[in-house]
Amino acid sequence: MVLLLFVLLRQRSNRRSTYRIGMRYIVTGGAGFIGSNLAERLARDHDVVIIDNLTTGRRENIEHLIGHPRVTFIEGSVTDLDLLTDACAGADGIFHQAAIASVPRSVEKPLETNAVNVGGTVNVLWAAKECGVPTVVAASTSAIYGDDPVFPKHETMAPTPLSPYAVSKLAGEYYGKVFSDLYGIRTAFLRYFNVFGPRQDPNSEYAAVIPKFVTRLLAGKPPIIYGDGEQTRDFIFVADVVRANIQAMEGDARGVFNIAGGRRISLNELAACLCGITGMHARPLYGPPRAGDVRDSLADISRARDAFGFSPRNTVDEGLRETLVSSLQKDLQRGRQRRDHVKVVEVYQCRREVGVRRLSWRIWACLLHRTKNTVVPTPRPASSPPPKCVAIAGGNPCYGHVRSARALTPAGGHTCARYTRPQTHAVNSN
Ligand SMILES: NC(=O)c1ccc[n+]([C@@H]2O[C@H](COP(=O)([O-])OP(=O)(O)OC[C@H]3O[C@@H](n4cnc5c(N)ncnc54)[C@H](O)[C@@H]3O)[C@@H](O)[C@H]2O)c1
Repeated sequence: MVLLLFVLLRQRSNRRSTYRIGMRYIVTGGAGFIGSNLAERLARDHDVVIIDNLTTGRRENIEHLIGHPRVTFIEGSVTDLDLLTDACAGADGIFHQAAIASVPRSVEKPLETNAVNVGGTVNVLWAAKECGVPTVVAASTSAIYGDDPVFPKHETMAPTPLSPYAVSKLAGEYYGKVFSDLYGIRTAFLRYFNVFGPRQDPNSEYAAVIPKFVTRLLAGKPPIIYGDGEQTRDFIFVADVVRANIQAMEGDARGVFNIAGGRRISLNELAACLCGITGMHARPLYGPPRAGDVRDSLADISRARDAFGFSPRNTVDEGLRETLVSSLQKDLQRGRQRRDHVKVVEVYQCRREVGVRRLSWRIWACLLHRTKNTVVPTPRPASSPPPKCVAIAGGNPCYGHVRSARALTPAGGHTCARYTRPQTHAVNSN
């Protein structure tokens, strides 16, 4: 029995990735949101070549990496095969993130989406083959599952794409499998669900929901939700996506893998959660549903766990806090700090006080205590009493229990342990 257990555990650990250093990796789309976070992490231990044509990516995302002795930035397109084959010579692996990464944009521009997402992916695979690069880890998407009502989504389910974007990503996966079978390149396509975190562009016309919510809340405006807000998403913090990529590269798995938090949250809950964190009390504004958007999303992440040991480490709540701090830091760097924003220096002071680098409940309690809920003052009529409790639907929607909400509560500030229906963000605790 003990021997059997030992053999099973050994088999399992063999499937896990082994940590490597000193590799040469290509990151396409490395100036984008996910790509820049990935490139930054890789540059700690490896040589990194970033290829990006800055369509939606931004130079400021990698400004701190340009000039780094291990990082090379090539401004160019994945539709340029010569550029790719030159860059990939001698590489140990390619992280392919470049894409037109937007459902609405793909609906408006299906030809462009096809050229970049399908054509670009085939080019990357071909360059890998020509240059003898053994592994390609590529970004795919949960949009491939479409509106299939079965939950959670498992990789074995039949794809039902609803947008040109989803079709283009599915085609990329199929090319990946064919290149793997025909030419022996190991390919792993990671079906990201809703990724969020620092450097996600809030200003793009096609921006994802969290940076949009954060930006509006920090500007003192209510979040805008398209549809009734009951649509759900399976959010994952970008640091976990970065880790999944590296684990997939360092392991030996091939195929498609869901990468998600494994928990779904409605947009109404998300808005309530962000309101709770910022202390902003605003009812969301509702607009018409958007074409091509899926209604619900929830992943089964067991395949990635079994194949390369993936499991998310950050809760949505922790991720949201890091995202928020990063937005505030950016505002400060740009000299756009508003009187009513959290002073970023306070974050650092709190970090020093608490003595750990990562944000934790204690740091947040400290931060909120210091700033006395001055993230954004709630616009309210002079006659109404000040809100004393941030009400969050059905338990804390981003964390799920009362303890976390209490830990957030600054002494003498809002007292918060009371939950109510979504969209009711400010109630009197009396
Ligand atoms: N963010 C998410 O929630 C999410 C979810 C599912 C899948 N994905 C996938 O993850 C990848 C990264 O997405 P992101 O959210 O970081 O988006 P992003 O737009 O920030 O990053 C995409 C990057 O690709 C670059 N790019 C676009 N066309 C290019 C071309 N022809 N040549 C070279 N570079 C080009 C852009 O300039 C940008 O830097 C994409 O493949 C996307 O489809 C993202």
